[in-house]
Parts: sequence; C-alpha cells; structure tokens
Amino acid sequence: MSTSVPYFSLTQQNQALRAELQAAINRTLDSGAFCLGPEVEAFEKEFGAWNGSQHVIAVNSGTSALHIAALLLNVKPGDEVITTPFTFAATSWAISYCGAKPVYVDIDPVTYNLDPAKIEAAITPKTKAIIPVHLYGHPCDIEAILKIAAKHKLGVIEDAAQAHGAAIGGKKVGNFAPLTAFSFYPTKNLGAIGEGGALTTSDPELAKRAVALRNHGCYRRYHYDEVGYNYRMEGMQGAALRVKLKHLDDYNQKRRALAQYYTEKLQGLPLTLPTQLANNKTAWHLYVIRAANRDALSKYLNDQGIGNAIHYPIPLHLQDCYQNLGYKEGSFPVAEQVSRECLALPFYPEMPLEHVDIVAKAIRQFAA
Ligand SMILES: Cc1ncc(COP(=O)(O)O)c(C=O)c1O
Repeated sequence: MSTSVPYFSLTQQNQALRAELQAAINRTLDSGAFCLGPEVEAFEKEFGAWNGSQHVIAVNSGTSALHIAALLLNVKPGDEVITTPFTFAATSWAISYCGAKPVYVDIDPVTYNLDPAKIEAAITPKTKAIIPVHLYGHPCDIEAILKIAAKHKLGVIEDAAQAHGAAIGGKKVGNFAPLTAFSFYPTKNLGAIGEGGALTTSDPELAKRAVALRNHGCYRRYHYDEVGYNYRMEGMQGAALRVKLKHLDDYNQKRRALAQYYTEKLQGLPLTLPTQLANNKTAWHLYVIRAANRDALSKYLNDQGIGNAIHYPIPLHLQDCYQNLGYKEGSFPVAEQVSRECLALPFYPEMPLEHVDIVAKAIRQFAA
C-alpha cells in the first residue's frame, strides 16, 4: 500500500518558500561567494541574535561543529569523553576523530538524555570532557552536568543538533555550556537545502580558533598555525538558512501544537508518551513514543500506509565499530530498553492534524 501518512515531508515547506529560496540562491549566484562569504556571515549574526549566542561559527555539518568543539577542548588520544550511548552516532564520532575514547553513561528513563546521577562514577583521571545531547529536542539536565564538570574541571559540549529553540527556565540551549553544536541537516528544526551546521560559544578566544579550524587552520592567508579542516559553510546554505530562520519560531510553534494534539489523542493507550519537564521548553524535533511491542506496531503502521521510524535501534555501545570499547548487552539497561521500544511517529511542522487523527486511530486499533 502506498504511504498515505508520510513520516516526514519538506514538500509543502519548499513550495511555500520557493520564491524566497530562489531569490536567496540568485543572490549567491550573483555574488559568486560560494564558500563562506556575506550570506554566511549574515546568517551567523542572525542565528546568534535568534539564539542569544555571542559567537556563531557556521560550518558544513553538525558533525564538523562537534569535531571542532572537541578540538577546542584539546581532546586528544588517551583522553576519555563521557557521552550518551543513545543518540545519533556523530556525537561519538567527534570523540573518535580526536583519537579519544567515548565513555558511555546510561540515560534518564523520562528524557532519554544523559543521566547526571550516573556521570560521576564514570569519571577517571583520563576524563577530559562531557558531551550531553538534547535528544529529540528535549533539554538534557545541562545545569546538573555543568556542576559536575566544574567540580572535576571538565569541558562540556552541548549537542543541540536536534534542539533549536529548546529552553530551560526561558534560556535557550546553546547558552549553557562553553560550546554548543547545531546541525542544519535538512530534516532538522532549522534545515539547510543541503548540509550545514554551526558552533556557538560566548568565548572570543575559542571562537577565533574555531574560525581558523574550519578553514584549514588558517589565521592569515597561507599561514597555518595548526592543522585545520575544510569545514566551511557554503554561501548557498547560508543564504537558504537566512530564509528559513525567519520562519523557525512559527515552525517550532506548529511542532508544539502537533505534539500536544498527539498527546491528547494517545491518552489511555499502553504506551509511554514523550514528556516535557515543568521548567523546560521542548523543541519537539521528533514525537517519539515507547511501546513494548514496538516492532509489531511499526509493521502494523507501515501496513496501514503510515510512516514511522526508529531513532535509534542500536545504542552506540553495541555498534560493531565500538566493540573495542568492551561494552556488552546489559551495560546500559535503560538505553537498551528505550532502543527496543522507541518509535517516532509522523511529524513535521506542516503535517495536517487529520493525519494525527489517522495515526492515533491506527494505534488504537492495533492496541485493541
Ligand atoms: C544528535 C545529533 N548529533 C549530531 C548530528 C550530526 O549532524 P549532521 O548530520 O549535520 O552532521 C545529528 C544529526 O544528524 C544529530 O541528530
């Protein structure tokens, strides 16, 4: 059966923004500034103003932003970096790219984010930093994590790839830790028309080094103080992101309304629904439920033409590439249980409420 309720779609957004995006692309074509340039600089200023961040360093992906952040903390071979096993793999790549070792800590069963109560037991003399993630747009307990980091003199990087606009006590994520990485992958709350990412910081020295690291380690043309990378944002992406940034609050508001409607419609079912903690504002990147019989439910929805997805089916400590770390099944019971039970339902700002009705009805039929 063809999919009647898509899991995700950019079609309507692209259509609605077509004229604005084409004008932005034309501006870039006319200027010829294809790598960094004025559109990227303007986007950095505008995103900084939107997020309350002093310095924004636009790069070519969220993964690059995380890698630069780890380099800025001088993460090196022999170091350990504490992070969550339940996230997109790139969070750990940043650690591995620096030759350091990811050390996983189990997650909180409500927010699915790094559990601060379990962090101190994982700290060793080799620990250099902590990288928490605001998964699915739900803020992690960054304040508790920062306290632990300060006590043990550790660096902290927020992975806010899925959390543009999430806030704690009215303060947006990306303003707590010294460094934050954002992704602008097209499906993110703020998405480019290709790859994109940014690093934010309030520290001018870190910002200066990040600007050099994203551009071959170049502080002055053809002078290389350290080995750098080609992590520059393309001009076209800066121009497109400026268009989409203007609509981000509206998109996030639509996500919030959809999440609320899903939560109303799914009440009383044998599912765990996503929770927004009292002091927090969730960016609702995804709407993820938990079901004991997840695989059967996923198949049932697929059979009904209802898209769905599993973020993430295998926690990082059980991935083949990290077998050398020595973890095994049972190492992180909460992360393992959540990866067996999580199911992301159709969700994107332009999704019609009637589609939520269709999904909720199908889940009720399945439960019956
Ligand atoms: C939590 C998390 N971290 C990092 C990344 C990496 O971002 P990108 O795909 O832009 O490299 C992503 C997104 O894909 C993500 O979801």
